[in-house]
Amino acid sequence: MADATSVLNVSPVIPVVTLDDPQHAVPVAQALADGGIRIIELTLRTESALTSLKLIANEVPDILMGAGTILTPGQADAAVAAGAQFLVSPGVTPGLLDHMLSLDVPVLPGVATVGEVMAVLESGLDTMKFFPAGPAGGPAYLAAIGAPIPNVQFCPTGGISLATAPEYLKLPNVSCVGGSWLTPRSAVERGDWAQITALARKAAGVSVR
Ligand code: 3PG
Repeated sequence: MADATSVLNVSPVIPVVTLDDPQHAVPVAQALADGGIRIIELTLRTESALTSLKLIANEVPDILMGAGTILTPGQADAAVAAGAQFLVSPGVTPGLLDHMLSLDVPVLPGVATVGEVMAVLESGLDTMKFFPAGPAGGPAYLAAIGAPIPNVQFCPTGGISLATAPEYLKLPNVSCVGGSWLTPRSAVERGDWAQITALARKAAGVSVR
C-alpha cells in the first residue's frame, strides 16, 4: 500500500481535468506545467480519458499524473496500466478500497462523512479526498472533523475556487485542494493554452497557511 502524502505535497492545488479530445491532452498538461503546476488528476469521465492519460504520462514526464473518478476495480487497473501514478475516487466502497490498496500506487479515496473517514483510517490510510467539499460543509466541516480525528490529511475538492482555496489551505488537516477551474472547457476547446498557464500560475501561488 502506498501512502499519498507525497501526492498531497506537490502543489497547493491539484487541477481536476476532464478532456473530451486526446489531442488536447499534451498541450493542457504542458500549459499547466508552464504555470508551475506539476500534478494532474485526470478524470475517467470521457471515453478517451485513458488515451489522454497515456499521452500525458509518456510526453510530459514533469507532471505527476493521476487518474480520478475511479468507480470500479477495473478502472483502477486500467488507469495504472495506462500510466497513472496515483488514483483518486470520489467515494469508497470496501471492495474498491481494498482493490486500490492492492495496487502499487498512492491512493486518495473520497470521503464525505466522519464514518467514512474512520472506515478508510481502519484500512491504514490517513490521506483522503474530501468530496464534494463545498456542498458537504466546506472548511467549517473539515475543521470540525479535525477535532476528534487530527491525524488525517485531506485534499478537499468540489466547489472550490481560487478565491475560496485559502480558507481550506489554512486548516491544519488540509495539504492541498482540488478543482476544475484551472482548465475551463471553453479555454481547452479553443486551444487557449495561455489562459490555462495564467490560471495555473495563480493557483501555484495561492498561499498555503
Ligand atoms: C472532482 O471530481 O473533484 C470535481 O468534479 C471537481 O469539482 P469542481 O468542478 O467543483 O472543481
